[in-house]
Amino acid sequence: MRVLVSGGAGYIGSHTVVALVEAGHDIVVVDDFSNAKPTVIGRLEALTGRHIPVHAFDLTDVDKTAHLFDIEEIDAVIHFAGYKAVGESVQKPLDYYENNLGSTFALVRAMQKHGVDKLVFSSSATVYGTDQAGATEDRPTFATNPYGWTKVMQEQILRDVAVADPSMRIALLRYFNPVGAHVSGTIGEDPSDIPNNLMPYIAQVAVGRREKLQVFGDDYDTPDGTGVRDYIHVVDLAAGHVAALEKLAATSEPVNTWNLGSGRGTSVLELLHAFEKAVGRELPHEIVGRRAGDVATSYADPSKANEELGWRTQKSVEEMCADTWRWQSQNPEGYPD
Ligand code: UD1
Repeated sequence: MRVLVSGGAGYIGSHTVVALVEAGHDIVVVDDFSNAKPTVIGRLEALTGRHIPVHAFDLTDVDKTAHLFDIEEIDAVIHFAGYKAVGESVQKPLDYYENNLGSTFALVRAMQKHGVDKLVFSSSATVYGTDQAGATEDRPTFATNPYGWTKVMQEQILRDVAVADPSMRIALLRYFNPVGAHVSGTIGEDPSDIPNNLMPYIAQVAVGRREKLQVFGDDYDTPDGTGVRDYIHVVDLAAGHVAALEKLAATSEPVNTWNLGSGRGTSVLELLHAFEKAVGRELPHEIVGRRAGDVATSYADPSKANEELGWRTQKSVEEMCADTWRWQSQNPEGYPD
């Protein structure tokens, strides 16, 4: 297939580009580079040995998005592009609703006009709200912040689109906590500001960009008191996208919801200690108060994806840490400008 990857320069998008090329698909990337550096594209071309066509514009521009489908041959879309910072979404809700919903409107309209029927959507375990432990796909969805609501709403919009047009084939992929990097160390997660998420924060402490990790609470009802999450290696996650896309080409179901996670929980302190092993030294940390809005425990029930996609996670927490450290130590400041 020739796959349009929106947000293909971003963290999960870039790893999925590599997986798609390795699986024999052709790629077109669209990205406005609002939260990604253009230099990632050269890295992707080096890794894949392919020229990657890139269109740099904002997908909320309906005319530009429609024009893209006029000039490029596209069989399927994987839609990653979107704002994703929880705290920022509370401060700027209209930006989040406008950008995340607007890009989906423009993309789906262009798909319909050009008869493109396959869409893989980048959703999140955040749609399980405060009920994220052992989540199965049939749980009711809700959110606790505007970012999360944009995911809940986009899922609903896509379900409604499929009711109106049952020839559509849509995958809603609910990711748990993506971490890690390609084993080459040449692509990885590159937060533009202070990292919000645990793994990139630990990696920046290890490389000397941050003084110490703050552990947000050790009084949760978990084995060691710190928050438990289902970390998934980004290369496993990318493989999940390829499996979902290929399933869409074979299924008669218009809408398919799949959790992408390992089914295993890891605490903040366990992840920190695994990272310390990868680096070979202890890393400074302190226990502070809980972060507002955090749940104690989040992990997937991935059995639906395991069975229906023939996909499961392969990589251990040790590999997640070793690969993150290889990326961070080889690229202490992230991608060059
Ligand atoms: C966060 C988002 C979630 C989003 C996901 C993407 C929040 C509240 N939730 O999930 O909506 O889909 O990222 O991956 O932001 N922690 C620390 N110190 C830190 C950072 C994190 O102790 O500096 C702890 C957290 O309290 C939590 C765990 O590490 O227990 C993981 O946090 P994080 O990486 O931010 O992910 P989530 O909160 O699960």
